[in-house]
Amino acid sequence: MNVESFREIRSADDEFMILETLLNANGDFVSGSVLAEQLNISRPGVLGKINKLREHGFAFEAVRNKGYRLTAQPETIHPSMVRYHLQKMGDHFELLYFPVIDSTNTEAERQIAKGKQAPFAIISSCQTMGRGRLGRDWYSASADNLYLTVLFEPNIPTQQLQPFTMWAGIYICRALQDFISKSSLKIKWPNDLQCEGRKFAGMLTEARVDADLIRTIIFGIGINVNSNPNDYPLEIKNRSTSLHAINGEPLNINEVAAAVLAAANTAFGKSIDGSNTEKLKDAWAPLSALRGQTVTSFQGN
Ligand code: BTN
Repeated sequence: MNVESFREIRSADDEFMILETLLNANGDFVSGSVLAEQLNISRPGVLGKINKLREHGFAFEAVRNKGYRLTAQPETIHPSMVRYHLQKMGDHFELLYFPVIDSTNTEAERQIAKGKQAPFAIISSCQTMGRGRLGRDWYSASADNLYLTVLFEPNIPTQQLQPFTMWAGIYICRALQDFISKSSLKIKWPNDLQCEGRKFAGMLTEARVDADLIRTIIFGIGINVNSNPNDYPLEIKNRSTSLHAINGEPLNINEVAAAVLAAANTAFGKSIDGSNTEKLKDAWAPLSALRGQTVTSFQGN
């Protein structure tokens, strides 16, 4: 690890600790000297970090002799907030955040090529070359949406892995339903999440199989969280929606990201667990958008 990347990690950890302390204080003030002691830095050092967080959409009230309190959080992705919510859920993931990237799936491939160990997650606020299934593009211009990839290394024979994308769809659909009170979220086989016939998320799983072992699973998901469907490109506008549009109110995107990561983790556990007794058919059926409908299936041509 070079000195610069060590500094970046240290600075991200310091920011996380400040946020964690202030969030756990539930809107109360925390003195600058308590924060300085926790981080083992000076009080002006704390102010520097608070000012950096302000640049990223956080707001703080600072009062002499009382300290700081958190008054607002960013509306877009902030990795420390994803980490905070994930920790609250009792889960953990190494997160790599990129404000802009070509594709989070492509970045996951680059990280593996560099020797990075699984599991880890890549999150971005904007993709310049977001990929969908069958060589399609994925609309990725809005920072109000989520672009996320998780990487797992099952290293088990192909026949021992249960259908991961289906389990991921089930757990993610259930997790997102917890945020939505007014409508039912469904999965349209194989990889779309829908509400009342309109797609709000798509999953793209890319696996590397080697000598009959599944080495890596690169699971990417794009979720239209708080974007306005009126802003979508013409070709998807009439068949797409967002969780905000479904719910009538904006969602906390960092909480959504944490819930999706935890759900993907659970799905991975289910997929590799030979003793998993939950039946895929029973879990899938109530969520299936195609239930009770006639389908026509094409394979190849
Ligand atoms: C589809 O419905 O066709 C699948 C869309 C998958 C999009 C996500 S966004 C995050 C990850 N990175 C990509 O380039 N694609 C997936």
